[in-house]
Amino acid sequence: MEDLYQPEQVRLWHWVEARARKILEGAGFQELRTPVIEEAGLFERSVGEHTDIVEKEMYTLEDRNGKRLALRPEGTASVVRAFVEHFTSHNVSEGRFYYQGPMYRYERPQKGRFRQFYQIGVENFGSNHPLVDAELIALGHQFFKEVGLEDQVELQINSLGSSACREKYRNALQEFLRTVQQDFSPETRERIQHNPLRVLDSKEEAVQNHLQKAPSILDFLSTEAREHFAEVQWGLKELEVPFVINTRIVRGLDYYENSVFEWKAARLGAQNAVAAGGRYNHLVKDLGGPDVPGVGFALGMERVVSLIPPERLGRDPTPRVYLMGLDSQANRELFFQLRELREAGAQVYLDVEGTSLKSKMRRAAKWEADWAIISGPEERGKGMVMFRNMKESTQEEIPADEILSRLLSKFPTKTFLL
Ligand code: HAM
Repeated sequence: MEDLYQPEQVRLWHWVEARARKILEGAGFQELRTPVIEEAGLFERSVGEHTDIVEKEMYTLEDRNGKRLALRPEGTASVVRAFVEHFTSHNVSEGRFYYQGPMYRYERPQKGRFRQFYQIGVENFGSNHPLVDAELIALGHQFFKEVGLEDQVELQINSLGSSACREKYRNALQEFLRTVQQDFSPETRERIQHNPLRVLDSKEEAVQNHLQKAPSILDFLSTEAREHFAEVQWGLKELEVPFVINTRIVRGLDYYENSVFEWKAARLGAQNAVAAGGRYNHLVKDLGGPDVPGVGFALGMERVVSLIPPERLGRDPTPRVYLMGLDSQANRELFFQLRELREAGAQVYLDVEGTSLKSKMRRAAKWEADWAIISGPEERGKGMVMFRNMKESTQEEIPADEILSRLLSKFPTKTFLL
């Protein structure tokens, strides 16, 4: 789990979050904030009891009443629960929601993989139309474009068909894998028995080699599933969203069917998925709601942000003004200035510690102040203050009552008054 404490980092997070929010609100999504703790059973019933997330990675706890709770490992189940609780219960069976916040998985930490990580996610309820899948994927594409990562990520799509298609494929794949399993690790052999589809995203080299000859899910799709997938692709082409088909994408959560997709960034190494999602037409019903289809995806903030160079944004453009009083009377006079300067839109810091000009100047430089207002007994006698341009190391005496007008004249009004 990570602390986020560097100002440039925090600023980058704010910026990415603001871009996402703008795009999603523009597409009619409303924000939903759900608790980070839910009943553990919610994730067991949605993500799936035999998934890594539920079997090995959930942070579970018991409350004082003996109720089994879990820190949410993902957002979809919580959003579906809230949708059923507050919307379908009032006969509203469609809706578009987005959410952002921390998720928790007890995974083996490594570069790009955390035990607390932040997602921004979207869920669309009420339509099984393939063009909705394409629309959502296009929103993801627009996001990557707006944060300047269009060339860094590759969109990969696949179809898992219906559960009947998957069952047939599962058998065929299992049969194939059994013929070559002598070359695999014991874990993979175990997986072939219980969850052969997950063998497809194994990182083992021997597995990857053999998989070249494995049957493809696309050959097992029903006519309906095939048409759905074709229409998604048509939509993406219409919207000029580049993609590749990767028949090995199966996803690590059980609720998906038909469309599944992931954006991958080669630069990230092993943990290269920056965003992922898919369609889930049975989840709302499985969680106690009516028969309402859904589709959505979530992006991993840490991974997205790590791809953006921090200098991309530069420093916050708000002018920074450092007020230094060289005695207690000066501190009091500058104290009066604080509110007015802040209301005018500047970031203002009043340094009341000690009286040493040298140490105050050092702190002002560290804070990256643009301007310093220095007031001491000498200037005060004349009704003046020292007005210093920190970047150019130049200064002049100005009348104390002209601080605000001087600062305003130094900045383009638009920036200053933002
Ligand atoms: P997911 O693929 O498990 O899907 O996670 C989505 C994204 O969260 C990943 O692509 C990755 O960027 C990020 N992520 C996942 N685990 C970690 C981790 N341990 N450390 C850092 N980042 C991580 C879901 O969670 C689904 N709920 C997505 C969805 C929404 N499907 C439909 N709607």
